[in-house]
Amino acid sequence: MLKGKTAVITGSGRGIGKAIAMKLASFGANIVINDIPSSDYADATCEEIKALGVECIVVKGDVRNSEDVAALIKTALDTFGKIDIFVNNAGITRDGLMLRMSEEDWDLVLDINLKGAFNCIKAVARPMMKQRGGSIINIASVVGVMGNAGQANYSASKAGLIGLTKTTAKEFASRGIRCNAVAPGFIASDMTDKLSDDVKKEYFSAIPLGEFGTTEDVANVVAFLASDMSGYVTGQVVNVDGGLLM
Ligand SMILES: NC(=O)c1ccc[n+]([C@@H]2O[C@H](COP(=O)([O-])OP(=O)(O)OC[C@H]3O[C@@H](n4cnc5c(N)ncnc54)[C@H](O)[C@@H]3O)[C@@H](O)[C@H]2O)c1
Repeated sequence: MLKGKTAVITGSGRGIGKAIAMKLASFGANIVINDIPSSDYADATCEEIKALGVECIVVKGDVRNSEDVAALIKTALDTFGKIDIFVNNAGITRDGLMLRMSEEDWDLVLDINLKGAFNCIKAVARPMMKQRGGSIINIASVVGVMGNAGQANYSASKAGLIGLTKTTAKEFASRGIRCNAVAPGFIASDMTDKLSDDVKKEYFSAIPLGEFGTTEDVANVVAFLASDMSGYVTGQVVNVDGGLLM
C-alpha cells in the first residue's frame, strides 16, 4: 500500500510514534525517525524497522527549533529524494490545575505540541508542493475538543493543532497536499499502566468500547490517512477513542 513512499514521523523513537513508524514500514514505506537528541532508544527502533525490509534512518532534533527541522527535511530529501508522508507526533504533557500551572509549563507544551508542528508543516510543504502531493497527519487528542481539568496547556495545544490541520488542508489542497488529524483518547502506555485497577475501571466506564486503545489502533488510522485509500479525505479529525467523544 505504501511501497516506495517516504514517511517522516516526529517523536517516533518510542510510544505511538514508534507504532506509526512500524505500521507504515509494514506497508512498505521507508522511514525517517525523528526524536530528541537524548533519545537513545531511537536507534534500536530504527533496527526493528529495518528488520521489516525497508530503509530507515534516524535524524535527531528538536521540533521547536526551525534549524533542526530544516536539517530533518534536508536529510530526508537527500536520502530518499522525496517526502510523501509527514506525521507530527512529537508531544508532551505538563499537567496541573490552571491556578497552579507555571508560565514555563504553558510555554513548553505549546512550543513542542503546536509550534513544533507549525515548524514542520512549513518546512515540508515546499518539497510536497514541488512533488504536487503529500499527506500530513497531526496527532492531536480528544481533549483538544473536550477539554480536560488539569490540562489547560495540553488541551489548548491540541485544539490549536486541530485548527492548524484545517488551515493547512485549505491552504495546500490545490497543490495536492492533504492534511488530517488523528485524535486518540486513552491509549494503553507506560503512563496508563501505572494507574490503579480502581482508577482504570472508572475510566473504562466512560468509554463505550470499555477499554483503553492500543498504539496500533492509532497507527492503523494513520496508515489509512497516509495512503491513497483516503485520497478524498482532507481537513478531518478522526477520533480513535472507543467512542469516548461522540
Ligand atoms: N498516550 C496517549 O494516551 C495519548 C493520547 C492522545 C494523544 N497522544 C499524543 O500522541 C503523541 C505521542 O504520545 P506518546 O503517548 O507516544 O508519548 P511518548 O512520550 O511515549 O512519545 C513522545 C515522543 O516524542 C518525543 N519528543 C518530545 N519532545 C520532542 C521534541 N521537542 N522534538 C522531537 N521529539 C520530541 C519524545 O522524546 C518521545 O519519544 C503525542 O503528541 C501525544 O500528545 C497520546
